[in-house]
Amino acid sequence: MARLKVAVLISGRGSNMGALIDACAVPDFPAEIVLVVSNRADAAGLETAKAAGVPTALIGHRDDPDRASFEAALNAALDAAGVELVCLAGFMRLLTADFVRRWHDRLINIHPSLLPAFKGLHTHEQVLSAGVRITGCTVHFVRAEMDDGPIIVQAAVPVLPDDDAERLAARVLRVEHQCYPLALRLIAEGRVRVENERVILDASGDGLASLVNPAAGIRAAK
Ligand code: GAR
Repeated sequence: MARLKVAVLISGRGSNMGALIDACAVPDFPAEIVLVVSNRADAAGLETAKAAGVPTALIGHRDDPDRASFEAALNAALDAAGVELVCLAGFMRLLTADFVRRWHDRLINIHPSLLPAFKGLHTHEQVLSAGVRITGCTVHFVRAEMDDGPIIVQAAVPVLPDDDAERLAARVLRVEHQCYPLALRLIAEGRVRVENERVILDASGDGLASLVNPAAGIRAAK
């Protein structure tokens, strides 16, 4: 079967991109990364992608000051590579409603909280100041509103008493690296559809497939 052609958009470190590249390197994985795009020349993830032999493009918005021309250049690069699904992975530029509409249900994002809680920037600081005991991460389809859209995969992570934002971010990042490849696999296998703005997962085989760590507990309790 043809593998789903995927682009990953980054702005920085690119560790989630790296997790997606690693997943796609497994021979029977149903997706392939055909392009990595950064909007920043200094994004460390660009080097990671090049080292893995993945084509990269730098589409710097300082050269395309208006959003329309930035997104036109982005769409041209995505179309030229035959991209079918776009993954945002630490891509720190807001995309317009037009771009989001063009890629409707073909554009996904990872956010380091259990959405819809703690949208926006400084997520872990928000989590710590709210005093919640459990946080996590979410992979979701992108909608025009920031950090909004049908949820595909989530994982829960404890907030520990001596956490600071850095320690908590590192703990959440470890499950991000599990969740993003899982979400990509489910989509590429055609097991994800959106109905009334909620994700319906084709449960043939495994109805708990979109739960990462709580799934283990549920299975043990059965
Ligand atoms: C990740 O923690 C991701 O969830 C977060 O940025 C980090 C990027 O790390 N994204 C957001 O906060 C988006 N709202 P990475 O570049 O190593 O993948």
